[in-house]
This record gives sequence, structure tokens and C-alpha cells, in this order.
Amino acid sequence: MSDKLIIFDTTLRDGEQSPGASMTRDEKLRIARQLERLRVDVIEAGFAASSNGDFEAVQTIANAIKDSTICSLSRANDRDIARAAEALKGANSGRIHTFIATSPLHMEKKLRMTPDQVFEQAKQSVRFARNLVGDIEFSPEDGYRSDMDFLCRVLEAVIAEGATTINVPDTVGYAVPELYGNFIKTLRERIPNSDKAIWSVHCHNDLGMAVANSLAGVKIGGARQVECTINGLGERAGNCSLEEVVMAVKTRRDYFGLDVGIDASHIVAASRMVSQTTGFVVQPNKAVVGANAFAHASGIHQDGVLKARDTYEIMRAEDVGWTTNKIVLGKLSGRNAFKQRLQDLGVVLESETEINNAFAKFKELADRKSEIFDEDILALVSDESVTAEKEQFGFVSMSQHSETGERPQASVVFTVAGKEMHGQSDGNGPVDASLKAIEAIVKSGAEMVLYSVNAISGSTESQGEVTVRLQNSGRVVNGVGSDPDIVVASAKAYLSALNKLQSKADRVAAQG
Ligand code: KIV
Ligand code: ZN
Repeated sequence: MSDKLIIFDTTLRDGEQSPGASMTRDEKLRIARQLERLRVDVIEAGFAASSNGDFEAVQTIANAIKDSTICSLSRANDRDIARAAEALKGANSGRIHTFIATSPLHMEKKLRMTPDQVFEQAKQSVRFARNLVGDIEFSPEDGYRSDMDFLCRVLEAVIAEGATTINVPDTVGYAVPELYGNFIKTLRERIPNSDKAIWSVHCHNDLGMAVANSLAGVKIGGARQVECTINGLGERAGNCSLEEVVMAVKTRRDYFGLDVGIDASHIVAASRMVSQTTGFVVQPNKAVVGANAFAHASGIHQDGVLKARDTYEIMRAEDVGWTTNKIVLGKLSGRNAFKQRLQDLGVVLESETEINNAFAKFKELADRKSEIFDEDILALVSDESVTAEKEQFGFVSMSQHSETGERPQASVVFTVAGKEMHGQSDGNGPVDASLKAIEAIVKSGAEMVLYSVNAISGSTESQGEVTVRLQNSGRVVNGVGSDPDIVVASAKAYLSALNKLQSKADRVAAQG
């Protein structure tokens, strides 16, 4: 059996299914480039048949990324599979990942199909896909809650039809490590042609065991592919976290005995990029990428680390991309220094116009803030006005007035399809007044389900990063905005959420 563990990242597909985490095509491309820099083996770029936007995102990523295999999810029907194949045409190495539910509950209640019908459809779809692309992954959705005999029958048949990877999802996060590991082991032992496919694990985190279950699938079950997402992003409680699973296998190579091709020094940048793009803040005590992951507050620990680092640290912060030299640029820094810093941070801007836009934003920020940190630069390039020429709503300027005992007033200038609009309103506070000023013109009717502010680099001098989550007609989106003035950051975040609501109007649910 191979001693290489394949890392399959599904941040852009399963991660994006998380309520509010929807991303634009340009955001997805930027994250895909970071995943390529991380040397992820397979990038699941989206679900091409779910919408035109997803199709374009998969196609753009397939055309741009050359070092990783690019994969599209697809339901087990000819139309979805053909659409996925079409989107993947430009890929150096493309994979179709087709799935159908196999648990009694899903077959009866969701699909309203008999087991025999599911069996035939699974076989037929792999046969169809195999004629279009050589690399086919098959997933029995809710596989872990499926009947073992039936699952063996289905998986044997799809391997015979040409599936090259068999992925066993714990779709609802119900598994426990030992049982899940043995489940994969039994499947591999009982299916006569199991050695013709690579076995893969895909675990959700509903009971907080996604990483442990995935590792058990590898260690006990012999799986050689792990499906995971940056920061564990994903539906409900999320997916198995890439940074945790990778660092577990690297740090405990003595136990797992496996190689992973990931360049871990890009992990922290990837985590920040995904967090800033989606507005999902990383908890401070999150393993590997949380702000406290390498911080020692207790005197005894600090003393120990100063004397010998490995007294309390099992990984080196710099190996996963935490830098100690954090002040990077200031007011006097020139365009070349800025460009170099972008390159060091792994940020690729597509055109000279984008670099110029970003540099202008950087100069603006440096006039207001003496020290510019890496986090500021990453927030700045995530700002839609750097990359997006065609967004519907754009921030221009604003003013607001608040005084103790008086009702705050705000007036906001913003563009709608390039045309300047002026909105005015009062509100409970300056943020409330500003967002109401925008809504007074736009009249989106969206409901705000979350508002949060985070200091990007930890002090009151830092930029505020605001996340606004809006819900409208069953769609949920997050908008993110940053600025040293948190009221301005809030207005930018609100406009960004409105842009996302517009761009996600026509999606099909992935698990339908
Ligand atoms: O969790 C799941 O079952 C999935 C499949 C579509 C692979 O994401
Ligand atoms: Zn999933």
C-alpha cells in the first residue's frame, strides 16, 4: 500500500456550502492559488451543474491552476456529469466526483428510490463519467449510515465500472473514530476489487470528531486520501480541518508513517485568506491557526519555552507560517516594496490595474495608520474594490454624527451599477444609522442575522474587520469590510453582502 496521503481540499465546495460562506469567482480563484501554493493534491473547486456562477468558477480554476488536480462535484446523473466534464476541459488533471445517497433513510425519504434503483444509477453514472474523464471519484452519500452488504454491492460495482477513488462520507458527523476506522477496513476487506481504487475519508464535525475520525480511517482503515477544508469550514459544525490533519500526520510521522506533500509554511496565510473572504472568524484557541496556538501566558510555560522550546511546543510556529517580524510597511514604502510584500504573502493580483488599485488603497491606509501589518495587507487585497470592476454596489464615502443623549445620524455615498447614490438615516447607534442609510436606497428587505467586529491586528490602532450576514429569500451570505473606522468597515461589509446576495441568485443545493 502507498505511504503517500493524498490531501483533497473541499473548501471551495463543501466549505462554501456553509451558510453565508459563499464566494465570488475571483475570491475562489485567489483561494485556489493559495491551495496550489500549499501543494494540495486535489482541489474540489465547486459543483459545476449547480449554477452558472459555479460552472464559471470551476472552469476558471481548471484553466488557471496547473499543479493540483481540479475536481468538480456532480450528482449521479448524465446532465450534471456532462456539465462537470465541460467545466474541467482546460484542466491539466481533472476529476469528476459523483455521488448518490445509499443509506436507507436518504434513499427512502430524500431520493424516494429503491436500493436497486440507486445501485443502477450509481453504476450508470460512473460508466458515463468514465467515458469523459479518466479520474473518477464516487461517494455513497451518508455512506457511514448505510447497510454494509448494500454498500459493498454498490462500491464493488462502481469500481468495476472504473471509479478510481472511493470516498466514504460520514455526512452527518455521526461516526466515532474506532468504528469509522473499522468500517473502512471492513469495506476494503470484503470488496473483492477494493485494491483497484484509492480509499478516501470525508468526515463532518457534528460531534467534534471529524479530524479524529479521518485519522482513524487512515490508520485503522487504510484510507490514503483525506477530504478536508481550511479552518474546518463547512456545513453545520464543518468538515475535517486541513491544517489539523496535515500537522497531525507530519508531527506524528512516527505513528502514521505517511508522507504528505503539503508545504505547511503557507497554512497560516491560507487560514487568514479563507477567514477574511468568508467572514468566518478563527477562534483564538483553534489548533495550529488560532491566534493563541503558539502563545504562552503562564509564567511556568514561558520560562520553559525560553529554556528549551520543545518543553511546551510540539511544532514550530514558523513551520506553519507564523512570522515573528510582523511590522512590514509604512507610509514611505514604495510600489516595489509593496509588490514584493504581496509576493511574500503569496498574493497574486491578476493585472497591473489590480496592483495599482491595491497600492492606492495601501497609501490611503498608510496615511491613517503608521504601521501596516501583514493582516492589513491581506484585508486590503480582499477588499472588493481592488479586484472587482463589475460589482453592483461600491462604497464611496460617508459621514456620521453621534453625541451622548442624541440620536446618531449617518449619510452614506455609494454606487449602484456605477451611479452615485446618497442615503441618509438615523439609528440606535452610528453603525445602525449607516446601514439604514444604505437600506433606505437599496430596499433589499434582507434580514441581518449576524454582525461582528474584530480587530485585525489586536489593538485599537488596528483596522476593524466587520462581518455582516444577510438572509433573503432563503439565501444566506456574509459580507466582509475592513477599515480603521469601524463604521466605515460596517458600511463596506453591508455593501459586500448585498453584492453576494445578487451573485448567488440561481444555485441548486448540493445535497438535493
Ligand atoms: O458530506 C457528504 O456526504 C458530501 C458528499 C457530497 C461527498 O459532501
Ligand atoms: Zn460533506
